[in-house]
Amino acid sequence: MKNLIIYRSVYGSTKEYAQWIADAIGADIFSLEEAENVDLNNYENIVLGCGVYAGKIKIKKWIVSNWDKLKSKNKVVLFTTSGSPAEEIKKEKMIERNLPKEILAKIRYFPLGGRMVIEDLNFFHKLIIKLLAKMTKDPGLKKRSVKGFNFMDKKNIDPILDYLKA
Ligand SMILES: Cc1cc2nc3c(=O)[nH]c(=O)nc-3n(C[C@H](O)[C@H](O)[C@H](O)COP(=O)(O)O)c2cc1C
Repeated sequence: MKNLIIYRSVYGSTKEYAQWIADAIGADIFSLEEAENVDLNNYENIVLGCGVYAGKIKIKKWIVSNWDKLKSKNKVVLFTTSGSPAEEIKKEKMIERNLPKEILAKIRYFPLGGRMVIEDLNFFHKLIIKLLAKMTKDPGLKKRSVKGFNFMDKKNIDPILDYLKA
């Protein structure tokens, strides 16, 4: 099976997971910016990844506009990296707000813990996170917004590898 990974990552956590998956399964790997000229017809399994920003997945537009090709693939995986533990993301149903039912029925979705280093954020993002830290009443979210977080763990990709290898 020929595997393709396309990811969108602002601060590198999604990229790191994407590279771990590529190393484990053997895959061609491209950032979304590089993916314009990639011929999807050459691949049987497609893995897509991106960070969650303000409740949105930034790879949505690409998925929707390439859906005609994606829907005939053997397996399509979508993983997200974020600041919420996986159970919370499932409860939030964030993904249902981002993608239509027809697409979700075909995609296998894996929410993963990401990373945020406050000092690395650009001016705009720092401002948003500062405001969030001030406004939120959730103590966990407040702490993550003030101190940042690192939920990165190579083991998090195991369910994705199991699914792709099955
Ligand atoms: C401005 C901003 C907004 C964010 N919004 C969310 C969010 O809505 N939900 C969430 O769980 N994490 C949120 N995060 C955390 C990112 O999803 C997390 O840091 C992710 O690992 C970033 O991926 P990347 O390093 O590949 O860009 C936000 C981070 C920033 C800087």
